[in-house]
Amino acid sequence: MNNKFSISEIDGINLVNKDMENVLSVGISTNGNAELEMLSRNDNLFIIGTTIDKKGIENTKRIVSDKKIENRFILKLEDVREKDIYEDKSFDYIYARLVLHYLNDKELLDVLKEFRRILKDNGLLYIVVRSDKCDEYINNLIKYDEKTGLSEHVTFTGNIDKRRFHNYETISKAITGAGLNIKSIKDYDEELFADYERTIPVSVRNNLIEVVCFK
Ligand SMILES: C[S@@+](CC[C@H](N)C(=O)[O-])C[C@H]1O[C@@H](n2cnc3c(N)ncnc32)[C@H](O)[C@@H]1O
Repeated sequence: MNNKFSISEIDGINLVNKDMENVLSVGISTNGNAELEMLSRNDNLFIIGTTIDKKGIENTKRIVSDKKIENRFILKLEDVREKDIYEDKSFDYIYARLVLHYLNDKELLDVLKEFRRILKDNGLLYIVVRSDKCDEYINNLIKYDEKTGLSEHVTFTGNIDKRRFHNYETISKAITGAGLNIKSIKDYDEELFADYERTIPVSVRNNLIEVVCFK
């Protein structure tokens, strides 16, 4: 595999197997690289990729159109918090890397319940969220809201951002609370980059929690 992928992408891509047909990727990146790699591994795979990034989706659409795979990789402007869009048991695999930490605790629980509904019985859900071991949480915290779980903090670029920095307990509680099971859970540091091309590493610590879930 191309070394442009980070560990948390490789682990998620490696969960795709030959028996899978329908994948939902929520909060896709602007280049869609992970999804393109999944499609290259299984000719029968069909992916729906969603995001709320209006500008970013145009770039992804261009890439998909250049590769002439619009019939296998459908892109939609869609908020992961929207409900009742898909039929019960529609997906073999849901890929949610670095997106669910934007949700507050109540929204996360609702989204996970919806994922459970739309996952096939033998389906898998892959979650990667940032953890409370991140430097931005430990050193740059402005405000933590106990009711929502959301933190306001200064990012490494100096902006103010809102996010749920999870630990094993908070993410596990949401997953099991939604009726899903945890197959594996681990955390590790992963480099952050200041640019989309991933050429300028950032020196702050970025720690991720990766969870593989099943129904
Ligand atoms: C940090 S990027 C991660 C992109 C990609 N999943 C990856 O692994 O590289 C977060 C993405 O999630 C999208 N996003 C944020 N909140 C969202 C929401 N409520 N519903 C859908 N997408 C959302 C952003 O627009 C952005 O495209």
